[in-house]
Amino acid sequence: MRIYSRIIGTGSYLPEKRLTNADLAAELAQQGVETSDDWIVERTGIRARHFAADHQACSDLATEAARKALDAAGLAAHDIDLIIVGTSTPDMVFPSVATMVQHKLGTAGCPAFDLQAVCSGFIYALTVADAMIQSGSAKRALVIGAEVFSRILDFKDRTTCVLFGDGAGAVVLEASGEPGVLATDLHADGKYKDILCVPGHVNRGGILGDPVLKMDGQAVFKLAVGVLEETARASLAKANLTDADIDWLIPHQANIRIMQSTAKKLKLGPDKVVVTVDQHGNTSAASIPLALDTAVRDGRIQRGQTLMLEGVGGGFTWGSVLLRY
Ligand code: ACO
Repeated sequence: MRIYSRIIGTGSYLPEKRLTNADLAAELAQQGVETSDDWIVERTGIRARHFAADHQACSDLATEAARKALDAAGLAAHDIDLIIVGTSTPDMVFPSVATMVQHKLGTAGCPAFDLQAVCSGFIYALTVADAMIQSGSAKRALVIGAEVFSRILDFKDRTTCVLFGDGAGAVVLEASGEPGVLATDLHADGKYKDILCVPGHVNRGGILGDPVLKMDGQAVFKLAVGVLEETARASLAKANLTDADIDWLIPHQANIRIMQSTAKKLKLGPDKVVVTVDQHGNTSAASIPLALDTAVRDGRIQRGQTLMLEGVGGGFTWGSVLLRY
């Protein structure tokens, strides 16, 4: 009998500090940086985002989301035998956020590691956890996407600092005879490294280069809309399904225009797309599990429905996970 991995619980966490576009515009104006609610809403669909408090690190956000996912699954931390965290904004160079989450949850022993694929981090992490469950090397995995992108933003660059927010989302994935994850599809192409990157890095006890996010927005836009359609179609083909079988599209929440364009290519109406970018901004690896948990908890997503999760991010990396919820 085929072993599938199934989502048995979801959770998410947003830091308390919430800034509307007007709040952010007022803060930026104090530094001589001009932006407006109108510009941000028209170009991106974003209306608000959350920023972590100074004392909060990525692992704190991840742990909160993990606790809620465990509660929803009716499990305790010691029931988990694998922890993977998708993140590009870890607490430290090492050890991993995943080992810190494990300790904060009060458990030990099971494998725990981070996976760095920027905004595709959760899709990559879910794919790896699914493969480990299918192979029998794990039975119950915590898969988390968590980010504090506010720490790597240049608040003098209005073309990027208005786009991102902080947060975390998590799922508990369990081995099951019933589907479950139906198909996965991952890709990367390193020649695009310069269109979205944080070039600074630790070197001999200091930082070499600029440790803030740099982006060529139009190049990212063009690439994203193409690969998001391709990867969704690849996962559908692997599962012998068509776009008509999708109940909910849960795309990476980068920009409403990218999401609408992808939905149109997949012939899905706006009523089939889970949108949280308006309230969360782009939370990178956290955006998909945050959107998933939002739609599970408000009752839109129901057991038995077919979900298409897909993401694209720096690297470039992209991919999708098609699953029966
Ligand atoms: N407020 C006011 N004006 C602004 C702002 C701002 N925050 N940012 C840029 N502008 C100005 C520019 O200076 C420019 O002015 P000019 O015409 O006088 O030179 C004008 O607005 C237009 O700038 P563009 O960069 O051409 O704007 P564009 O329509 O391309 O929108 C955006 C920019 C929103 C970044 C768009 O390119 C985009 O959505 N790209 C996708 C990138 C993305 O979503 N990245 C997220 C991270 S990647 C990921 O998650 C996969």
